Formats: sequence, C-alpha cells, structure tokens
Amino acid sequence: MQDSADLQAELGELRRLINYHNTRYYQLDAPAIPDQDYDRLFQRLLDIEAAHPQLVSADSPSQRVGSAPLGGFTQVVHVLPMLSLDKVFTADDLKRFEERVLKRLNTSVIPEYCCEPKIDGVAVSLLYRHGLLERAATRGDGTTGEDITHNVRTVKSVPLRLSGDGLPSLLEVRGEIFMTKSGFAAMNAEAVTRGERTFVNPRNAAAGTLRQLDSRLTARRPLTMFCYSAGLVEGGELPDTLSAIFDRFASWGLPVNGLRQVVTGIEGCSNYCDQVQARRTTLDYEIDGVVIKLNSVSLQQELGMNARTPRWAMAFKFPAEEVATVLEEVEFQVGRTGALTPVARLQPVFVGGVTVSNATLHNMDEVRRLGVRIGDRVIVRRAGDVIPKIVQVIPRTVVEETELADAMDAASADAAAITASVPLRDIVAPTHCPVCGSPVVQEAGEVLLRCSGALVCRAQLIQALLHFASRGAMDIEGLGGKLIEQLVEAGLVKSLADLYRLDVDILARLERMGLKSAQNLKAGIDKSKATSLARFLFALGIREVGEATALNLARHFGSLAAIMAADEESLKTVEDVGPVVAARIAGFFAQSLNRDLIEQLLLLGVSPQELAVVPAEKLPLAGQTWVVTGSLESMDRNQAKAALQALGAKVAGSVSAKTTCVVAGPGAGSKLATAEELGIKVINEPELLALLEQFQ
Ligand code: IVH
Repeated sequence: MQDSADLQAELGELRRLINYHNTRYYQLDAPAIPDQDYDRLFQRLLDIEAAHPQLVSADSPSQRVGSAPLGGFTQVVHVLPMLSLDKVFTADDLKRFEERVLKRLNTSVIPEYCCEPKIDGVAVSLLYRHGLLERAATRGDGTTGEDITHNVRTVKSVPLRLSGDGLPSLLEVRGEIFMTKSGFAAMNAEAVTRGERTFVNPRNAAAGTLRQLDSRLTARRPLTMFCYSAGLVEGGELPDTLSAIFDRFASWGLPVNGLRQVVTGIEGCSNYCDQVQARRTTLDYEIDGVVIKLNSVSLQQELGMNARTPRWAMAFKFPAEEVATVLEEVEFQVGRTGALTPVARLQPVFVGGVTVSNATLHNMDEVRRLGVRIGDRVIVRRAGDVIPKIVQVIPRTVVEETELADAMDAASADAAAITASVPLRDIVAPTHCPVCGSPVVQEAGEVLLRCSGALVCRAQLIQALLHFASRGAMDIEGLGGKLIEQLVEAGLVKSLADLYRLDVDILARLERMGLKSAQNLKAGIDKSKATSLARFLFALGIREVGEATALNLARHFGSLAAIMAADEESLKTVEDVGPVVAARIAGFFAQSLNRDLIEQLLLLGVSPQELAVVPAEKLPLAGQTWVVTGSLESMDRNQAKAALQALGAKVAGSVSAKTTCVVAGPGAGSKLATAEELGIKVINEPELLALLEQFQ
C-alpha cells in the first residue's frame, strides 16, 4: 500500500510526463515515446485516480484530451466536445464492456453495434453550412482546436460542397484524416532523392502536413479522409442509427469507410475484430484497432458519457507495431557476397505480436541517418511479417530530463525491462572482416562495405554453399545450414566443388550423422548433378544474377560455353540485363578462379541440361502479365517470378488494367486491393502450384 505522500508525488510526476508527451504528440508532431508506453502512463494515472477520486484535480490530463493548440492558427471552440475512446485489448474485456452496457440500460436484449477500423490518423471536425464547407478544425484538447480549413480544403476526398436529400442546414462531421501507406512511401522516397527530411510514419506525416501554414505544401501531400460521426446538427435531422447516418453521409458525398459493418452482440464484434486484424497489412492505411459503437442513437443518448469518453463506444486495440527498447550491441554480419550488414541486438520486446531481439540496420548510411548509438533507446517497428527495423532514436535528453524510465518502472513491470542502461557508444564500421580478418572494402559509389576475403572467408563460403544447395539452385536435399557449418568448420569443404568430393565414410563421421543419413545425403548430392542450365547459373551466386536473370541467360544462349564466352555487348542483348549486370557476369567468368571452379564441377559430374532455345511466343503464358504479391510458403517471390517467366509470362511490379493475373499470398497489400478494384483475376499459392504443375 503506497502512502498518500508517495501517491501524490507519483501523480504529480505522471501528470507532468503526460503533459510533456501530449505537447510533443499533439503540438510538435514529434512523439518521444511509442503510443503503447504513453497508454501505459495514462492507464496508471486513470487507475490511481479511480482508486482515489479525491485526488482527481481539474487540470489532470485525465480531464482533457491532448493539449492546447499551438500559436499561429486561429482557435476553434467545439460546441460539442470531441471525445476520446476507452480501449480494450482482449475479447474478455470486450465482453465486460457489453455487460456494463446491458446493466446500465437495464436490459438483456443484445444490441446491434456498428464496427469499423480505427484509423491511425488525425481527428478533424468539418462544419458544413447549407452544404458548403465553412470550417475545418483539429480536435486540440477536445474543447478547443485549431482552424485548419486552408489545409483541409486541399484534401481531395473532403467535399467542398455537399448535396442530396435531407441535408441539415448546419452539419458538423467528424472523422480521421490520414495518409495512405503507398502515398507515404512514395512521398518519403521522393524526399530522400531530394535530400529532404523523411517522416517516421504515415500518422506523423499526416499530422505534420495538416499543421503546415502554407497550404500549397499540403495540397501536394497524399492525404485522405474517412468520416465516423456527426457533431453539431441544426436545421434538419439525422437518422436514428449510426449505420443509416453513414449511408446518408455517403449519399451527400462524404467519404466513409467501406469496411464498416453492423453486427449483433459482442461476439459479432469479436469476429469483426478478427477479420479486420487478419486484413490489417493488406489495407493501404494504418489502423491500430477497431472502433465498436452502439448502432442505435437513442441507446447512445441513454448511456451518455464519462468525463472524456462515451459509454456507448469502445476501441479494441491491436498489438502495437512500434515499441521502445534499448540497442544493446551492433554486430556486423557477412553475407554471401561479402556485404557487411549491421545487425542491432536489442533488449527483447513484444512487438507486432512476436518477441523481437534483432533488427536490421541495413548499412552505415542508415546508421548515420538515424543518428543511432549503442545504448540508445530506440523505437522498433514490426508490421505484418516485415523484418523488424529501428525507425527512430528516442532523444537521450528526453529520457534523462523526464526520468521517463523511472516513471515507466512504476507504470508497469514489463516496462522495467527496458530501463537497464547500456553505456553510450558510437557504432563504428569495422576495417577488417569480423569473421576472417580480411580487409573491408567499399566500391566507388556503393553504400555497402564488403569483406574482401571471398571464399576464403568462412562466412561467405557458408553462405555461398547454402545458396548453392538451396531449392531454386542445385536443390540438394538434406544439406542444411547446420551441416554446411560442420563441413566448413571441419575443413572438409573449402569450395563449392568439394561438396561432390565427399563420400559416405566421411559424412558418416559427422556429428549426429548415421550411415543411413550419410547415404541419403550422398544420394542427394549426386542427384543434384543433373540440373538445368538456369539452376546451375543461379547456383554459382554471380552478383546481380537472380533466378529470373539466370533463366533469361540460359534461354538466350542455350549453353554454358556460350554464356562463358559472351562479351558484355552480347550479354546486354539478353532481356533485363543492363550494363551493370552484364559487367558483373563478364567479370565473373573472366576470373580464372571461377573458370577453374566450373571446370572442376563439370569434371565431378555436374551436368547442366542445355536448353533447346524455345521461341518465346510458343510458351504457354506468352503475352500475359503477372504480378506476385504477399508472402508465399513453398517458395519465395523470386522463385515464383522465375517459374512464371519460364512459362513465358512477363512479371510486373505493379498492378494495372493490363495485368492478366495476380498471385497473392498472406500480407498482400495495396496490389491486391488494386487488383480487386480493377476486377483482375487473383489466385492464391495452391492455385499457382497447380498451374505450374500442369505445365511441368
Ligand atoms: S469514433 C466518440 N471511429 O480514435 C467517438 N474514432 O482514441 C468518436 N479514431 O479521437 C470517435 N478511427 O481520432 C471513431 N473509426 C473511428 C476512428 C476513430 C480513428 C480516432 C479518433 C478518436 C480516437 C480515440
């Protein structure tokens, strides 16, 4: 039991911190902590105040939403306050919400709810007088916002004039303005090419854009809107259910979310939440949950509101995609081509539904761009199945000045896990390979650092062997990462060719390897000798030569000898081979080490099947354009692409009216949405496999 002086002190500190973060979030568009941590602080404040109502002060942040507006914009007073939402994280909590609703309504009749995604954008109020957009404002602190009419007028989905039946003379509509994921990515990519600053996420970008004083800038940014509620209404009446209000909005030209749905009871809500969560990564806008609202307006009125939140609505929040942790160490990993990738070792955190302890930092340019050091507190993002990445460093001064760490400690035991301090150190690029000690080199015009040790470097050799044995390459059954490591560590394999020199006796002496598995592995190695020219070329691991290029080369030249003899000029005549790739290929075959390797492989019995050059127009998918999106299970996207190209299809990167068919796996995003919109045929992985089989 905390004594009252302690409680007062904690409350004071919590309020100070929350106010500080409100200012950063709402006024400066520069949040210093992830939403989840902010939510934790806020929840702790609410918990203490609920247990000790006498300690609630009029200026506690629990009594308001956000902060007062920043100077520079005219203030707007919301006649009806713009409310916030209570939130829950589990289906059980949702059930309790319904129990409270039924109890307050003193009924056992299960109500209807109107559900829709919770958009991660900026809340705005639009005021239409006689159908004309008169004013747009931010939520601000819920009572007073800022006039952003000049900016909102540039948002194309916001109608400047409404028309249709039953339009009230004064209508205030509320909703969320946001930036699409694709628009955000394109905008950031453009900013990078111009050397301008990039935004961390679409929400910050939308907020920053709406706070531009110069609306010409706003007009160039890809903002859009969904409306989700009505505010002030005069000179007319709205229907008595939310779903009918949404339909009315749509009939007047207001943008509403097509995913909205009326369901019965909390089970219906839970199902809806599951469905939306499953589609989360495929949507072209960021959502952080689902909003559930009683569909009947009269029941809403009967329930009324608490200080900040309506009793008839609830936000069901999805797991956070961004959380804070500490960067404990950076290690440089050596890839197949010697590229050194800085990998962040993190204090483990639960993000996007899994525990993450590593994140890629891509390259030293990225390290500099982020300004990140070992020991920094960082924000890690993991959305969908995308590899976790560090998106932002939490300013050190903020952590120190506000003693955020201590307060978080008090707020939650999990948060304590991120308070351990690691001394601050710069991330320094190594001058020598951490695996083999060879000098690290950087080619002119390249960002990447590389180990110069080639296959002398154990790391490169292991990666090269893994690639050589992989499914799309020589497809050596039974030869996995652990075995390759053992073979290399034991000095049994020093080159790709050595694989074919292994015999059953040697293999049987390896750890965890019996005679039977040694025989199987040997059979797998032998079987791989009969392969196709395209697979063999791909297996060699020539830089820039993926499966598709290998296939094009094989098709074009027909034989290994012809490819090895080709000069850069003739290589450039191959489809999709430009000057850079041509130079890489010619360079590879010019090296005597590589020619020797190929000779040895052939002598050892590897026999790439030469291709009879089939005229492209005779192939079964000739003339068709395919798109592959999302993740596939039995192969990666490049393999799918190569397989389709082998059948004569062109494989494009984006969907258009010209697309013949889209292959969509889990996590498919805007490409799938575009295909659905354009009515283009979409197939899944099993359907693709069936098709490939048919032509084998
Ligand atoms: S309804 C009184 N619907 O979430 C109910 N809010 O955490 C008003 N939000 O301030 C809100 N998507 O900015 C509603 N489909 C949606 C929403 C939504 C996002 C935001 C809104 C609100 C905040 C509350």
